[in-house]
Amino acid sequence: MAEFIPVPPFDLVVFGATGDLSLRKLFPSLLHRFLDGQIPAQSRIIGVARSEMDTRAFRQMVHEAHLKFAPKDHIDEAKCAEFLKHVEYVRVDATAPASEWGALKEALANGKGNVRIFYLSTAPSLFVTIAQRLAETELATPTSRIVLEKPIGRDLASSRAINDGVGAVFDEQRTFRIDHYLGKETVQNLLVLRFANMLIEPIWSRATIDHVQITVAEELGVESRADYYDKSGALRDMVQNHMLQLLCLVALESPNSMDADAIRTEKLKVLSALRRIGPADVASKTVRGQYKAGLVNGAKAPAYAEEVGKASRTETFVAIKAEVDNWRWAGVPFYLRTGKRMGSRRSEIVVQFKDTPVPIFGAGAGAPNKLVLRLQPDEGVRLWLNMKEPGPGGLRVKTAPLDLSFAEEFNVRYPDAYERLLMDVVRGNLSLFMRRDEVDAAWTWADALLAAWDESGSEPHLYPAGSNGPTQSALMMDRDGRAWWDPE
Ligand code: BG6
Repeated sequence: MAEFIPVPPFDLVVFGATGDLSLRKLFPSLLHRFLDGQIPAQSRIIGVARSEMDTRAFRQMVHEAHLKFAPKDHIDEAKCAEFLKHVEYVRVDATAPASEWGALKEALANGKGNVRIFYLSTAPSLFVTIAQRLAETELATPTSRIVLEKPIGRDLASSRAINDGVGAVFDEQRTFRIDHYLGKETVQNLLVLRFANMLIEPIWSRATIDHVQITVAEELGVESRADYYDKSGALRDMVQNHMLQLLCLVALESPNSMDADAIRTEKLKVLSALRRIGPADVASKTVRGQYKAGLVNGAKAPAYAEEVGKASRTETFVAIKAEVDNWRWAGVPFYLRTGKRMGSRRSEIVVQFKDTPVPIFGAGAGAPNKLVLRLQPDEGVRLWLNMKEPGPGGLRVKTAPLDLSFAEEFNVRYPDAYERLLMDVVRGNLSLFMRRDEVDAAWTWADALLAAWDESGSEPHLYPAGSNGPTQSALMMDRDGRAWWDPE
C-alpha cells in the first residue's frame, strides 16, 4: 500500500484553466491525488480564464476532458463528482487592470490559512503581467507561491526579463519553475539508483562509460500548437529544458543531501560545464530535421509544413552531440535526440559502458553493458549483462536484461509527473523545480547553438513521419563508431 506525505490545505489558482495543459494534465492529476486521499477537505482549486463560463460549465469541461484524455481510467463517477466540488471557475482577463480582478479576490476570500498557489499555465508573455496584477490586487501575499510553466522565454534575454518581472513580486523561494520531466518516476529513480547504491558510483564515469544517449521520441505532431511551435522548434521546446535536465541528472556529482539547493547547485555545475557548440561544430555535432508526410503506426500523417500551413525552417527533430567538460565526463559524449512524428513514443536514457578490455570469449561475444532507463511508455530500468547461455554444447555468451523495475512487486500505478510536482508545490519542496541560475545557464548554451545554426544557415533535413528521424542522425553516430539504441 502506497504511503502519502500529507499536504496542508491549499487554494490553487490555475491561470489558463481552459487550455490544453490544464485539461489534459493538471486537473486529471489533481483528481488522481484526490482519489488517493491526498487533497485536504478545505482545499479549493480555482480555474481562471478569459472565457465566459460559470463554475458548473467549467466542472463539466474538466469532467469531459478527463473522459477524453484518460479513457482507460475507470473513475468512480461519484468520487469524481466529489472532486469537482473543490473546483470553481472565475473569469478574469489577465491583461485587464487590477480593478477588474474583483471576482478572483472574492473567490479567494476566506482562505482560512490555506497555502495559496498561482499556477501560470499561460503563454509566457503573460507571466509578468499576471505577477504584477497579483501584487496590485494584493492577492499575492508574503507566503503565496507561483508556478511557471515552460517555456520561460525564448532566449536568455527574454527569460531574464520574465524572471526579473516575476521576481519583483515572488522571491526565488516562492517561485516554482516546472519541468515536468523531473516529476517522472524513472527520473527520480535515477537519483536513487545513483546515490542509494554503493555499487553504481565507482563505475559512473569516463573510466567505464563509453557514452550516454538520451532519446525523447514522440508520435504526436504539433497538433493545435502550430503557432507556438513554429516560433520555437525542438531545441527550445524540448532540449533547452527537458533534455538538459535529464543530462544533468545523469551527470551531476553527488549532492550532499536531498535539499533543493544542494541538488540544484550540482545541476548548475553540469550546465556550466557543457561545451558550447559554435558554427564550426554545427555540421559534425548537430542534426536538424523536419517531418514530411508519412505513416505513423499505419495512419497517414501530414507534413509539418502542411500542419503549420506554410514553408518553414523550424526543426521538429534535433540530434546533438553534447560534451561535459569536467574530470568525470571528459571524452564521454552525451548524444541527445528528440523529435515529433517519430515511429513510436519512446523516451529513454541509455548509459552505454565500454567493452571489456580483452575478449577472452572471442571477438563479438556478447555486447557492451548498457543501463537503460525508460521514462515512457512503460517506465522501467534494465541493466543489460552478458551471461553464459545455459545448457550443453559449448560456452556461449548471451546478452540479457536484468529487470530493475519493481512496479509489479509494489503493485502501484505510476503517477503522472504533474501529480508529484503539484503536491511538491503545496509542500513547498523546490528540489524538482529549476532555479533561476539553472534556467540562465541552459539558455546560455542553447542561445549559442541557435546563433551557430543561424550563422551557418543550417536547413532542416526532411524525414518521413513515422521514422527515426533524418539519416544524418544515424550518420552522426556512425562517424563516432556508435549507433542509436533503437530496439525493435
Ligand atoms: C512539452 C512540450 O514540454 O513536453 C511538448 O512542449 C511535448 O511539445 C511534451 O509534446 C512531451 O511531454 P511527455 O511527458 O508527453 O513526454
